[in-house]
Amino acid sequence: MSSFKHWSARLLFGLLAVAPALGQAVEREDDAVIARSLTAMLRAARTVVSRNQALINDPAIGDKGLGGKKVLAEALVIYKETTQIDPKGIAAGSRHGRLLRAQQDAIVEVIDANQSTLNQRGVAFKGFIPATAARLINEAFSRRASEDAVVKVTAPEQLIRNRKSRPDDWEAKTIRDKLLAADWPKGQMVSDATSSQGRQAFRFASPEYYAPSCLSCHGGPKGQIDVTGYPKEGASEGDLGGVISVTLFR
Ligand code: HEC
Repeated sequence: MSSFKHWSARLLFGLLAVAPALGQAVEREDDAVIARSLTAMLRAARTVVSRNQALINDPAIGDKGLGGKKVLAEALVIYKETTQIDPKGIAAGSRHGRLLRAQQDAIVEVIDANQSTLNQRGVAFKGFIPATAARLINEAFSRRASEDAVVKVTAPEQLIRNRKSRPDDWEAKTIRDKLLAADWPKGQMVSDATSSQGRQAFRFASPEYYAPSCLSCHGGPKGQIDVTGYPKEGASEGDLGGVISVTLFR
């Protein structure tokens, strides 16, 4: 009897000890899924802007028919292709469902708010490029989800164009110690249980590398002013150009 008591107590103790760790692992797994999903949706929206850049820059066309709903619909197609996830299958009431919804609403909000810029006749370059759209979408998202999550595009400190996009301490350290390390697997996301703004958080950082299409602005010759008015960074194809940083508060 006493030995049974002994073992059941040990079993109970064992379960209690294991349960929080298990809970945390599962939560972290779920959070990584959400971070990947928000990262993919942001990239999809940026891709839509990129694919429509020639249209956006056309000074001869007024109404471009590029409203928020249209851009979101195109982004959803790209999101499904790249993630193999159908957003309709994500429960609307779940944390993932709510955050993805807030992000989609942010995409529509930003594109709709910029219609007069996009439809301006007689002006070719309107300053509406994927990076700017992404920043505005992230700002709109963070307003909608600030209690819960933050999405941001940042970059190695020396590459930062817009001060608003400067890396915070965690991002700077993650970029320096992990993403820029010679042996960091190309494309692999960093995940970390840490804190942000004084709150416990899971944080994620997905690296982005310069493609040939980026170099007209971020390439060489270093210091030459690009079409957007910024000095070029002198970067090369394949260099770490940026990081999509997702914070999920606990
Ligand atoms: C037409 C010029 C142009 C091209 C092409 C371009 N960028 Fe940029 N990029 C900019 C400008 C301008 C900003 C600042 C946008 C803002 O915050 O409004 C920026 C911002 C960024 C940022 C955010 C950090 C920062 O410096 O503010 C990253 C990361 C970035 N670009 C990476 C890329 C990558 C990767 C590509 C190619 C896939 C690319 N860019 C193509 C002009 C360009």
